[in-house]
Amino acid sequence: MGGGQTALRKLRWLVRAEAKIKVIAPEVDPEIQKLRDAGKLTIEKSLFYPDAVTSNLVLVISATDAPNVSEEVFVAAMAQGVLVNCVDRTELCTVIFPAIIDRFPILVAVSSMGRSPTLSRSVRGWIELRLPNALGQLAELAGRLRSEVKTKLPSVDARKAFWEEVFASKAADEAMYGSMDAAVVEAEKMMARASSDGSIVLVGAGPGDPELITLKGLRAIQSADVLMYDKLANPALLEYARRDVELIDVGKKGPREAVKEGSDAARPSGTTMQQEINQTLIEQALKGKKVVRLKGGDPFIFGRGGEELLAAAEQGIAVEIIPGITAAMGGASYAGIPLTHRHMSQSVRFVTGHSVEHGVNIDWPELAKPEQTLVIYMGLVGIEKILQRLVDAGRGDKTPAVLLENATLPNHREVFGTLEDLAGKVREEGIDGPSIIIVGEVAGIPAQVHERYAASSIEASTSS
Ligand SMILES: C[S@@+](CC[C@H](N)C(=O)[O-])C[C@H]1O[C@@H](n2cnc3c(N)ncnc32)[C@H](O)[C@@H]1O
Repeated sequence: MGGGQTALRKLRWLVRAEAKIKVIAPEVDPEIQKLRDAGKLTIEKSLFYPDAVTSNLVLVISATDAPNVSEEVFVAAMAQGVLVNCVDRTELCTVIFPAIIDRFPILVAVSSMGRSPTLSRSVRGWIELRLPNALGQLAELAGRLRSEVKTKLPSVDARKAFWEEVFASKAADEAMYGSMDAAVVEAEKMMARASSDGSIVLVGAGPGDPELITLKGLRAIQSADVLMYDKLANPALLEYARRDVELIDVGKKGPREAVKEGSDAARPSGTTMQQEINQTLIEQALKGKKVVRLKGGDPFIFGRGGEELLAAAEQGIAVEIIPGITAAMGGASYAGIPLTHRHMSQSVRFVTGHSVEHGVNIDWPELAKPEQTLVIYMGLVGIEKILQRLVDAGRGDKTPAVLLENATLPNHREVFGTLEDLAGKVREEGIDGPSIIIVGEVAGIPAQVHERYAASSIEASTSS
């Protein structure tokens, strides 16, 4: 019943499901007329009458605002034992329609059991954002390879792992956004590997906030047989792994943890620990497993990802690198600091404070040049020396500088100052978590933003 836009929305789904449909309404939308002309449905131009509902119908839908019609439809349907749905009248429904996410042939249905269709639609919107538009192409790829996979990978577990890997791979991207033929070739290569070797994926977990991981990184976690992680990767991300995943904690201790624990003597060096990590990665991959190495920030920014890649390559093991948001970018954005800014900073450098401690040859005059931003990783231990050296090399002692501790996490702390006073303020605050230091005029921007907001609210209150 009904011939307007609401009816049309329902009709589109029913037509797609190839249902036999009759529309009863005094007037119908031109689009409904077109469906009739295409032979998809029939129309009876009439007001509702109870005898229209006969027991051979499967479903009756009332999609009209006309007063009392839904009640009459409901009574008639109940009398004939036919399923009924009256739009926006949950109490007059024996059937409800979920909100649908259509990535044909993948369909996702969201229902609030009739309590709040609006909430269902919102949930649908959230899910929509996460599902690639061309998801249906993936189902197409799976359909094409299904029987070949069954023959080549007789074990159910191997097939499951293979498909998980395919859906998180370049083959999936090819299928969804490129060409199906290229996707098939890529997936066939993976099939050949799946019957023999394992692989390694280095995934950037982002600086802390688990939502800063990439979708690709998340999919890799979901398909891992073995998940190796360290203390910088947020533990919340481990929740996305399969239930049967093997978790390996390869957390390295920094110098401050060693100091806190009293002695550094028995602790293996970072290099020894890195060699052990490389070894474990290789051993697991050689067992034919998909090993995901979850690394804080980006794997290739002060993350020793390059060493892991080289070690795996030496053994002929395939490695995929999935980038992450590095601490500098995540931290700066969350603190409202643009790392480059017109007329203020034309370049940005990422450097490590470790080199200061270890007396590595550093070109201080180069680092101290104006109109550039310096981001210093692992600089907390040597902060006094680092900032002093920059001043000695010519950067003004009033240059803004900030230390960001646990950036992007709920327990973050920000200490703002200048090259002259930042180190003292940081010690006063008792900062001891993972931290970066940002040096340059851009570190003064949050204060300017604050001032402008304050000024704008004064103006707003005086003009009103
Ligand atoms: C071994 S490096 C790893 C860097 C990582 N690969 C990246 O791209 O951010 C570890 C250092 O990164 C910095 N760092 C990592 N996460 C951080 C965070 N959430 N807040 C501040 N600094 C962080 C600290 O300087 C820490 O000592």
